[in-house]
Amino acid sequence: MNREDFTILRDSNMVYFDNGATTLKPDSVRDAILKYYNEYTSNIHRGDYENSLKVSGLYEDTRRLVKDFIGAGHSSEIVFTKGTTESLNMIAFGYFRNHLKKGDEILITEMEHASNVLPWFVLSEEIGVVVKYIPLNKNNEVSIDNLESVITNRTKVVSLAHMTNVIGDVRDIKKIARVCHNHDILFVVDAAQSVAHEYINVTDMDVDFLAFSGHKMYGPTGIGVLYGKFDLLKEMKPLNYGGGMNAIFNKDGYIELKDVPDRLEAGTPNIEGVLGLSECIRYINKIGLEKIRNYERSLKDYLIDKLKKLDFIKIYNKTNKGSIVAFNIEGVFSQDTAIYLDKYKICVRAGNHCAKMTKDIFDVANTVRVSLSFYNTKEEIDLLINVLKNSKNIWEEIL
Ligand code: ALA
Repeated sequence: MNREDFTILRDSNMVYFDNGATTLKPDSVRDAILKYYNEYTSNIHRGDYENSLKVSGLYEDTRRLVKDFIGAGHSSEIVFTKGTTESLNMIAFGYFRNHLKKGDEILITEMEHASNVLPWFVLSEEIGVVVKYIPLNKNNEVSIDNLESVITNRTKVVSLAHMTNVIGDVRDIKKIARVCHNHDILFVVDAAQSVAHEYINVTDMDVDFLAFSGHKMYGPTGIGVLYGKFDLLKEMKPLNYGGGMNAIFNKDGYIELKDVPDRLEAGTPNIEGVLGLSECIRYINKIGLEKIRNYERSLKDYLIDKLKKLDFIKIYNKTNKGSIVAFNIEGVFSQDTAIYLDKYKICVRAGNHCAKMTKDIFDVANTVRVSLSFYNTKEEIDLLINVLKNSKNIWEEIL
């Protein structure tokens, strides 16, 4: 649906199945960014002239829009960042570095993306916290029983993707948050893959921190969001110091910081990114997340049904809910499959998808990933299936 909103789809016969890596951008998002450059380029919060005041207003309006989009209590709980990776690093190094001590335990899974693993490994090196893994059930999901089985009185943090990027497992965030809080554990959610596909309400879900990127929700690259409960954000140390985040500094070294969120946004921010984010949220709201989710899930079921009929295809996630399918052609390296599909203008991602610990779960390190969006169609899936059916001569075609 809504394919006509995307120049890149109108003007080519490309089949874009790599939405987990980044989504396409509707014309309205591009236009919002162009409008900023063509009509009111200026910096924010630093100018007393019309354009600067206007852009400052649009920037802060976006904060309110994000707040409503994820159901936060207050717009000061919304910090603009470069993306999910920066948000998760800020959570680990701006907050937890100062609130954890040697022996404290952090729970993640082997399905997590590098950006929700490596910062915790670094904290482990730095302060001796212990990274532990929640065992996954046979469908590679987090069950409440499995979570509870590894919680100890040293567990201080649970940090999980809402939807995992390799198999699209959608976690029950609300239930997990309840378990965490019953044990006085803080719960961090990486919403990079879910934010444009699944409904999020941080207040109802009761998450402590949440991170996501604009570019996976039809917005520009280089813009992301860090949500934190106000009392936690207040305790977060900035990782960057400079203009816009300080209230006073004197030559004796005294610094007084502004309140959150300003103190966590040093320097001139990604203004075009924020204005693009604003438009993509409006765009998603206009279509409706529920409609998007239902459509994408039905497409995903359609794809799984078709793939199941091909006996030379191994599917790694037949039952997971999200709009991602991971598979391999038996005996073919995933990247070769991706190169072959590209001959037919079908874009997929192949490899370990920055989640390198999944090699300990599956029997291979690399998979082909189809990650769907609302603009994909059953006809595109039929094309993929036909191309896969004709893949017997794959070597001749790609060599
Ligand atoms: N994290 C992105 C992905 O999974 C890039 O493809």
